[in-house]
Amino acid sequence: MSIIRKAVIPVAGLGTRFLPITKAQPKEMLPLVDKPVIQHVVEEAIRAGVDSIVLVTGRGKQAIENHFDVAYELEDTLQRRGKTEDLQTVRGVTALSQFAYVRQGEPLGLGHAVLCARHAVGNEPFALLLGDDVFAEEHPALESLVAAYERTGKSVVGVQEVPLEHVSRYGIVNAPKDATTVWDVTRIVEKPKPADAPSRFAVVGRYILSPRVFEHLAALEPGVGGEYQLTDALMELAEEGQLVACPIPAKRFDTGNKLDYLKANVEFALKREDLGADFLAYLREVVK
Ligand code: UTP
Repeated sequence: MSIIRKAVIPVAGLGTRFLPITKAQPKEMLPLVDKPVIQHVVEEAIRAGVDSIVLVTGRGKQAIENHFDVAYELEDTLQRRGKTEDLQTVRGVTALSQFAYVRQGEPLGLGHAVLCARHAVGNEPFALLLGDDVFAEEHPALESLVAAYERTGKSVVGVQEVPLEHVSRYGIVNAPKDATTVWDVTRIVEKPKPADAPSRFAVVGRYILSPRVFEHLAALEPGVGGEYQLTDALMELAEEGQLVACPIPAKRFDTGNKLDYLKANVEFALKREDLGADFLAYLREVVK
């Protein structure tokens, strides 16, 4: 069994980059073909050996809780109509894992969202997955981070190289010349200007964190816009020599961004056995 038993997935953000759909609909429930983004993230955590999921939710996010709960009326109807396959699909979602929910009363930033999960996690290392970052399924991103944690005993941030003009959207870490295996993080800067970035390696939504991070989060002062930055607590871990970076080779989609969301849908649809060929034929017809 994996040493990492719990995964925290914050889904309490407002999703302002995806308005108007996010006015009354969590962005984490947007579908990639027919499965919501959040289910892809949960399934990645389970593949890495996690057996319980803590979702940090907020107002207007009930659709996420309902998605992982029993849907009694629907199940009853499907059963009576003999729709066995559909019934299995519906029940399979509930059976994926054990789910716990904590509320973040105000969206005060990622650091604050993670701190809200403190009591549900307790005193053990845990995985943190951002609820809108999805990786191509053939490379299980979180598994390599769990392996890095088991090898080093230190907290791990998943990183990917990004174009220089994008560094100001991410937390950026220092990187060695040969950045192909795990390395020690000594610097991490939140949203730097290209000229101030220690490298082009960005933290991309997958982490393994030791419970020590909660102590640093609890001691944080709010930053810009009253938000509590996870990066500030990670910097404390780095200063204690307790943080490593692990490159993630898989293709990533930030589904909270409209263009990335569209790309993710095209790529996931093309890989589907039941839809891929017809969809490709359609794309060839419209893109001339
Ligand atoms: P984002 O910055 O992508 O989410 O946070 P956001 O704030 O919803 O997005 P925009 O910029 O307004 O469009 C990454 C993840 O952290 C969660 C979000 O739900 C998302 O899954 N988050 C963010 C929280 O749970 N609480 C927060 O206070 C902020």
